Amino acid sequence: MNNDQDVDFARVENGALAGRFVSRFWQPIALSTDLKMGRAKRVKLLGEYYTLYRGKDDAVRMTQDRCPHRGTMLYLGWVEGNSIRCRYHGWKFDGTGQGEEFPAETASYAAKVCLKTYPTREYLGAIFCYVGEGEPPEFPRFPEAEDESRGELLTQGVFLPYNFFQRVENDHDESHIFFTHKLFFANYGLTKIPKATAKETDYGIVVISTRPDGKQRVGYGFMPNILMREVPVPQDRTKMSLLVGWRVPVDDVTTYSVMIFRVGVYNRDLPQEGEYEDPMAIVARIMNGEMSLDDVDDKHPLLPVIQDTVSIGGQGQIADRSNEHLGVSDKGVAVLRRVWARELRAIRDGGPLTTFHRPADFSFGQEIQGNYFNKIEDLEDAARIEGAAPA
Ligand code: FES
Ligand SMILES: [Fe+2]
Repeated sequence: MNNDQDVDFARVENGALAGRFVSRFWQPIALSTDLKMGRAKRVKLLGEYYTLYRGKDDAVRMTQDRCPHRGTMLYLGWVEGNSIRCRYHGWKFDGTGQGEEFPAETASYAAKVCLKTYPTREYLGAIFCYVGEGEPPEFPRFPEAEDESRGELLTQGVFLPYNFFQRVENDHDESHIFFTHKLFFANYGLTKIPKATAKETDYGIVVISTRPDGKQRVGYGFMPNILMREVPVPQDRTKMSLLVGWRVPVDDVTTYSVMIFRVGVYNRDLPQEGEYEDPMAIVARIMNGEMSLDDVDDKHPLLPVIQDTVSIGGQGQIADRSNEHLGVSDKGVAVLRRVWARELRAIRDGGPLTTFHRPADFSFGQEIQGNYFNKIEDLEDAARIEGAAPA
C-alpha cells in the first residue's frame, strides 16, 4: 500500500511541489565538455529553459532563456568575450547580465535592462546551477569523488525518457539487480537476492543490503536526488567503481542522469564515442519489441543504463503508484518516499523543511565495516518506527 498519495513525488513543472523542493538544491545541468569556450547552449530544468554559455574567461554563465527585447532564444546568438549578443536585433548583455549595447536604441536604454542570471559552478566534469529562490545552499562536495586514489574520473550524462523519481527510487532498490542486471552484476560476485534495510539519516537515507552469502553493499541517498555507492560499470571489469549520481528532473517525463565515477582499472578496450549505438535508440527498439535486453552487446559502455532504462521506463513515463504492491524488499523505496512526502507536505503547508547535511564524520562504507550498526535488525527497527516498513 502506498500511503503517500496526498503528495505527488513525480511532477515538477509549473510550481509543482516536487519541482519546488528540487529547486532548493544545486543541480547538474550539462557536462563541462558540452560547452566549449565562446559557445552557448539551451538547457532545461524543472520544465523551464535557460541559456548557458562559456565566455572567454572560461567561466560558465546561466541566464534566462529568451531575449528581453522580443523573445528570441539567446543561445542562437553570439558569445562575445564574456557577453552574449542576441541574433535578432543584436542586443548585447555583459557577463553579469546587464544590458551593454542595444545598437538601435539609446545607451541609456541598455543600462535599464538586465537578464535574469543564475549561479553556476563546475565540479568534476559537470556544470551545476542553482535556480531556486534566494541564496543557494552550500555546494555539496563529495570528497570520495574527488579522491584520485580511487581511480580515473569518468563523468557521463544521459537523458532518460521517464520521470526522475522512478530513477531516484531505483537507486535504493537493491533487489532489481538480480534481474535487471542479471549477468552483468554476477561478474562482480553479486549473484544472490539481498535483504535490504533502510533508514533516514542527516543527509537523506542509507540503504544496506545483505546477501545470503554475507556480501553487503551500502547506498547513500543524499537529498533530494543524489546517489552515492559502488557500482559495476563496463569501464572496470575487475571491481566496482565509486558513483555519485544526480537524477535531475528536466521536465515531468525526462530525466538527466549525471554520473561521476572513479574507475579503478580503466578498460581501454571498450568501444569509443561514435563506435557504439545510441543507448536510448537501443532502449526504444527493446521497448518496441524489436529486440530483447538479452541481445545487447555486453561491451556497450552504457549497458547498465540501458538495462535500468528498460525496467524503469517499463513502469511508464510517470509510474502509477496507486496500484502498487510493495513488499519487504522495497524498504529503501518506502523510507525514501516517507522522507520526501514529509518535505513536500512541509512545502505545501508552509511548515519547516529539514536542513539536510553531511555529518563531519561521514565515512563511506562505515555501515558495513565492523559494528557501526549493532545488528541489521537495528535498521529494521528504525524503518518500522518511522512507519516506513511496508506491510
Ligand atoms: S529579440 Fe533579441 S535583440 Fe531583438
Ligand atoms: Fe540498476
